[in-house]
Parts: sequence; C-alpha cells; structure tokens
Amino acid sequence: MERLQKLISQAGVASRRAAEELILAGRVTVNGIVVTELGSKADPTTDKITVDGKPLLFSTRHLYILLNKPTGYITALKDSQGRALVTDLLLGVEERVYPVGRLDYNTEGLLLLTNDGEWANRLMHPRHEVEKEYHVRVRGKVLDQQLKRMAGGVELEDGVTAPAMVRLLKNSDQNDWISVTIHEGKNRQVRRMCEAVSLFVVRLRRVRYGTLELGALKPGQFRHLTGTEVQELLQPVAVAQPEREKTAKTRKPPVTAKTGAADERPVARTRTPRKQSPATRTKP
Ligand code: URA
Repeated sequence: MERLQKLISQAGVASRRAAEELILAGRVTVNGIVVTELGSKADPTTDKITVDGKPLLFSTRHLYILLNKPTGYITALKDSQGRALVTDLLLGVEERVYPVGRLDYNTEGLLLLTNDGEWANRLMHPRHEVEKEYHVRVRGKVLDQQLKRMAGGVELEDGVTAPAMVRLLKNSDQNDWISVTIHEGKNRQVRRMCEAVSLFVVRLRRVRYGTLELGALKPGQFRHLTGTEVQELLQPVAVAQPEREKTAKTRKPPVTAKTGAADERPVARTRTPRKQSPATRTKP
C-alpha cells in the first residue's frame, strides 16, 4: 500500500504536491469511490485508481541502482527505531526500489537496489555465487595464520564458511587492512569470520559485487547501472584470475583458500572486473 499522492506522482500524472491538490479537489477515485483524505493509501496492483476519470497507468520501467552506502544507514525499507534508511539517499528516485541483499548498519560500500524482483532473486540465489569483495580494517597486526584460517573456512554457528580469498592489503602501526572475497551471503559473515580468528573489525567496506566496482562514488552517492552492467551480472561465473591480481605486482601475494600458501597467485571463481577504478587500485 502506498500513499495516493505518491502513486499519482509515480504514474507521472503530477508532482506529489500537485497530486495532493487533486485529491483535496475530489478528482481522485479508488475503486470507484472519491477519496479526499490526504493520508489515504492504495495498492496499485489491485486497486483501480483514477484521476479525472482516467485510470493511472504505471510504467514497468526497471531501475538498477548502485549506491555507495555510508555507515549509519539501515538496509531496509522501514525501521521501527526511526533510523535513516538507504532509500532516503536516493533523491529524485520516485519508484519504490529495494536492496539486493543487505549491508549492516555500520558497513559501508557497494549496495544494489532495484524494482526488478526477478533480477534480484537471481543474483541472490546461492547457485549464482556472486563474488563480494570487502576491504576490512582490523585492529592491530594480522598474522598470516589468521588469513589462512579465514581463507580455508571457519566454523560459525550456522556452519563452516566456504573457501574465500583473503589477502593483506596494507600494514600500518595501528591497523592493518585486509581484502576478503566471499560468494556466500551468511548474515554478518565477514565480521563473524574475523571474530572467529580473533580479529577485531574497525571498518568494513564492500568494494566489489560480481563485475561491479564501487569506483569513484563518494559515500551517499549513487548511479544507475547500464544495460550491459545489468546483463553482465547475470552471466555464469567463469574461472578467471582477477585483473587486480595480475597487475598488482607490488602487493604481497594473497593467501589462497586452495593452497593456503602466501606465495601463489589465487585462481578464483570470479568474473574479471571490466575496468580498474582508481579507488580500488590504490590502497584504502
Ligand atoms: N559481512 C558483514 O559482516 N557485514 C556486512 O554488512 C556484509 C558482509
């Protein structure tokens, strides 16, 4: 159920403000009954709504949005605690879109939103195994042993995690950065994998989802996907070596789930990202 003024504006008949005037003027009906109350709601899939006797026609335009989610936003369409919603950031998007999967309140980075349920379901289906890459700042120094354990699979209360790609990105005095690539979607998976090997997560950012990278979008910014990007995400996963791994010669080699060895390049189930963005080439 949506407010009538929102539905009228979504159907492209009038702005929300003008739609309120139409309602107050008694020019709107729902299932043949004139509605003049501004809070009234209707279901566009089952109710017949008219303005001046003409039925509202809703376009089936599908939207595919890539948002750089900041921390402090909840990945839901409403929140009983009144916290800010990711959809609050989509200024100018009138259609109702919903998130593909979720990121925790305190997790940042790449989040997809769409109104194409079939597309979202296909991406989220476990069989599809879309890779998700996270950059994680952890407190203190990371040991090779901890990375190897995470890569090989750690035991969580809801099962053992599948092999992952885990590598050190950057050392510093206070905090290390690691990259973790998974293709499962367990709740709070990366945080719990870190906890399982006694790593304390200071910051968590998703930088890649399948073929899509966060790129230069600043926190809170979003863009629409191109048709090619929408289709590419649905392609079957190929065995490939990520571009980043081929070119980042100066980096410490990743620990692989396959061998646990730090001196081998990983062969991962991945789709090679189409292009390298400066944001992911440089260290976080
Ligand atoms: N893993 C987590 O722990 N949190 C997220 O938000 C996403 C993946």
